Amino acid sequence: MTAVDIIAKLFSGEGAQDYLGEEVSVAVHMRQAGALAEAAGAPDAQVAAALLHDVGHICGPVSGQQLMAGTDNRHGETGAAWLAQWFGEDVTEPVRLHVAAKRYLCAVVPRYYGKLSAASVHTLAIQGGPMNAEEAAEFETLPHASAAVAVRRWDEAAKNPGRDGPDFDHFRPLLQSLLRRHLAGLW
Ligand SMILES: [Fe+2]
Repeated sequence: MTAVDIIAKLFSGEGAQDYLGEEVSVAVHMRQAGALAEAAGAPDAQVAAALLHDVGHICGPVSGQQLMAGTDNRHGETGAAWLAQWFGEDVTEPVRLHVAAKRYLCAVVPRYYGKLSAASVHTLAIQGGPMNAEEAAEFETLPHASAAVAVRRWDEAAKNPGRDGPDFDHFRPLLQSLLRRHLAGLW
């Protein structure tokens, strides 16, 4: 099975699970996020990061359900480590940092907290709450911080129960081209 087939299988299998109390499944949520990134004209790596940002909820040993129950499943780290088998840091770092980006945005953007869904407010507390000024300043120095913030904004907007988003197959060529670039050392 190719890498893209393995990811596709995750979307069609585990990805059909409820997404942490939202009205969409994990897979629909991620496909919507990928579509929003694409519609915004984002670079391919950011479209892939948006599409794959929550794989850590469904590929790792600690589930999203456990996060909702109060244990931080560190799904950013889990997802990034899994994706690093195939993709470069332009994809994996925004995935790893998308939870930190929520904590950052809640600290620095007035009213951002009010945009969070109820489930996301609940998990924010488990994930450490909004950053303090020192943490926010440190976050801004990270090389992929702005990409992580962009992914986070698409993440927040990708919980629309009235939409499915494009099929996973829509994203195959993009993922395939990123794999090739990564394996050829072209990052
Ligand atoms: Fe998400």
